[in-house]
Amino acid sequence: MHAFLLMFHLFMLFVRLNLCFTFCRIVIPPRLTNHPFQVLSPTLISGAALRLPLVESSSSAGELQGRLPFGGFLLFGDDSELSRLLLEMAQLPLSPVHAFLILLTTFFSFTVTPTCCSDPNGEFSVTDYETFAFHGDYSPPAPPPPLNATLEFYDDVYVEGLGNLIILPGVTLSCPVKGCYILVNISGNFSLGQNGAIIAGTVHIVANNASFGDGSLVNVTALAGDPPAQTSGTPSGTEGAGGGHGGRGANCLTDNQRMPDDVWGGDAYSWTSLDEPYSYGSKGGTTNREEHYGGEGGGRIRIDAAGEVEVLGSLLANGGDGGLKGGGGSGGSIFIKAHRMTGIGVISAAGGSGFAGGGGGRVSVNVFSRHDDTVYFAHGGRSVGCPANSGAAGTYYDAVPRSLTVDNHNLSTDTDTLLLEFPKQPLWTNVYILNYAKACVPLYWGRVQVRGQLRMSGGALLSFGLFHYPSSEFELMAEELLMSDSVIK
Ligand SMILES: *[C@@H]1O[C@H](CO)[C@@H](O)[C@H](O)[C@H]1NC(C)=O
Ligand SMILES: *[C@@H]1O[C@H](CO)[C@@H](O)[C@H](O)[C@H]1NC(C)=O
Ligand SMILES: *[C@@H]1O[C@H](CO)[C@@H](O)[C@H](O)[C@H]1NC(C)=O
Ligand SMILES: *[C@@H]1O[C@H](CO)[C@@H](O)[C@H](O)[C@H]1NC(C)=O
Ligand SMILES: *[C@@H]1O[C@H](CO)[C@@H](O)[C@H](O)[C@H]1NC(C)=O
Ligand SMILES: *[C@@H]1O[C@H](CO)[C@@H](O)[C@H](O)[C@H]1NC(C)=O
Repeated sequence: MHAFLLMFHLFMLFVRLNLCFTFCRIVIPPRLTNHPFQVLSPTLISGAALRLPLVESSSSAGELQGRLPFGGFLLFGDDSELSRLLLEMAQLPLSPVHAFLILLTTFFSFTVTPTCCSDPNGEFSVTDYETFAFHGDYSPPAPPPPLNATLEFYDDVYVEGLGNLIILPGVTLSCPVKGCYILVNISGNFSLGQNGAIIAGTVHIVANNASFGDGSLVNVTALAGDPPAQTSGTPSGTEGAGGGHGGRGANCLTDNQRMPDDVWGGDAYSWTSLDEPYSYGSKGGTTNREEHYGGEGGGRIRIDAAGEVEVLGSLLANGGDGGLKGGGGSGGSIFIKAHRMTGIGVISAAGGSGFAGGGGGRVSVNVFSRHDDTVYFAHGGRSVGCPANSGAAGTYYDAVPRSLTVDNHNLSTDTDTLLLEFPKQPLWTNVYILNYAKACVPLYWGRVQVRGQLRMSGGALLSFGLFHYPSSEFELMAEELLMSDSVIK
């Protein structure tokens, strides 16, 4: 407990007006903090930037209620404010940072002028930190051997720069806070090593190539921030109903006045962005007025890769479980855009289980050349209170063939997945409703038109019209209508 030491290895590259090469080690005296933390041994080889937002410290410097969201060689904000940033960083709240290893490398080389800590605008001297200068021909230390390590953040993290970001095997980058945003925006390759993990509310990766190694995990399950305004994904009332998103949440209420199909929990939303989903899932309902029990909504994962994406691990944006006293949260959003995709991973934005299950989320893949055997899940969550009525399936859209799949993974349900307006120009190619999914076109006058197949199988159901209107008109237009063990009504 006495070794409250923090070493910041800081390697900053100024590329705008002046080039400066800095390497500093900062030791925070023990009296400034109550939080234990260990020496960080990050390694970065120039050219990339790990940029963290400046969190205004809400407390006095003495308490050190700041954040220590950093353990690497960074390029912070505005170059001209560097020493001030260091000060602010030092005031940021210190988390129990265990150990951490990010290796940033670059293919870009700059002419750098080694100077260190010699021109801090006097601001270093007003801190309680010792700084150590490394002059002359400093060469970065050899990367430490891979280890299982966690770096925990408590606020958004932005990693930006020219170069590659390689998260070594076994390393976890974690910001287990609802809605916490981790952005990686780099010009080179991103790689999450074997058994490595990223945990946050939103994980957004922009890179040339992105690879997710064997056993790796991006988990935004139950870490949703706020769902879009004006949506009613979280049910009101105390029925312990599931949250809605890609599909409606289930509701176990039995009501003599209404048919089972007319009773649901949280409603569906974000239909118009099912090809590029980026909404959070919603929290499930509760069974108790005093306490809110529902499972949290699923978070968001978005990958924009100019080149290739390889998924050998799992990308999870499931809704959280609500247990016996709350509804399951709805699944979140996963969107992958790349030229090519390979791998045998798992991609899931399913609803959480609960008293009544949450609705599935939204998954979309926009990849020109697919060579993956990835499995996709966007089904609803299980309902403990009414096992025959799970949450409704969410949507899985494959943007290149323009195909929509609604699949409830054999979880029977009375709860609808709403299919709203179908695009007219160009038409979708195929629509698949599978494995007990129950889809509904809830319009008085509805038209479902696709260019290729409308296929229904495995106990699927497609209904048209509004429940309260005994008659409604619809048109179903498709090249082929394939139905097995399914119903249209
Ligand atoms: C890291 O964890 C993985 C599995 O979680 C294990 O196989 C590996 O041996 C661990 N590595 C170290 C250095 O502890
Ligand atoms: C990523 O960085 C590029 C170039 O700096 C910028 O144009 C783009 O908006 C960034 N993307 C995100 C999602 O921040
Ligand atoms: C990105 O990774 C590929 C192989 O996965 C490699 O051929 C390429 O050189 C890497 N790019 C950079 C910029 O390092
Ligand atoms: C992306 O990966 C492919 C194959 O893994 C490689 O050929 C290509 O050079 C990589 N692109 C970049 C920019 O690293
Ligand atoms: C993902 O996160 C959720 C919520 O924290 C957790 O329950 C689940 O076990 C995690 N999944 C994996 C594979 O670790
Ligand atoms: C659903 O049930 C069908 C028929 O029993 C079976 O062939 C299929 O593998 C099941 N699918 C899942 C995802 O369990």
